[in-house]
Amino acid sequence: MTPTPKAWIRDRKREFYYRKAKEENYRSRSTYKLVQANNKYDFIKRKDVVVDLGAAPGGWIQAARKMTGKYGFVLGVDLKPIEPFTQEYIRTIVADFTEPNSAEHILSFLPRKPDVVLSDAAPNITGVWEVDHARQIDLATKAYEIARHLLKPNGNFFVKVFEGDLLNQFIEILKQNFENVKIVKPQASRAKSSEMYLLSLGLKATIEDVASS
Ligand SMILES: C[S@@+](CC[C@H](N)C(=O)[O-])C[C@H]1O[C@@H](n2cnc3c(N)ncnc32)[C@H](O)[C@@H]1O
Repeated sequence: MTPTPKAWIRDRKREFYYRKAKEENYRSRSTYKLVQANNKYDFIKRKDVVVDLGAAPGGWIQAARKMTGKYGFVLGVDLKPIEPFTQEYIRTIVADFTEPNSAEHILSFLPRKPDVVLSDAAPNITGVWEVDHARQIDLATKAYEIARHLLKPNGNFFVKVFEGDLLNQFIEILKQNFENVKIVKPQASRAKSSEMYLLSLGLKATIEDVASS
């Protein structure tokens, strides 16, 4: 069967990023979503400490490690074990970040509070749009709670979401807690998919932060 023009473009794009990732030794096509977003908004900087929630197989870890350089540190967290890396200043742990007390657990592997929390975590897709959207927002909310708990004041948070009814409410929560929230659709994301990323810049200090400083 001849593919429709849209399906053809989508397949060519997938193929393009698949090959590019192979050539550049990245573990996933998704790597380019983070690379493209950071090229535009520069929210991961040299020497940063970065936490990546839902990090397997590790493409974002590789990209974040390049961005932070040799004085940075990247911690990847996933339900599945992540194949080890040869570079220093990368650590990976097997954990479910939705479990209670996981923020404290994650913090115990870090040299200091992180500058950036990332999450490309995805639930198992059922194909039922409402269910998948709700589960994705739930995961993104859990990732936000970890970020809120761990990030340094003024830290940044980058998270995957799917379009849908619950999205605006989540964006409102982010807006209350960060200076600036942007909706990001990297070129490497499929144009027609409901996937997008929220980039929250500049975590606002809480009254407790101000009192303890
Ligand atoms: C799309 S993949 C991440 C790809 C990654 N950004 C890369 O470039 O290699 C999503 C990951 O989220 C993980 N995940 C989903 N729920 C999780 C949870 N509650 N705790 C930890 N990891 C989770 C899955 O195991 C899966 O490996």
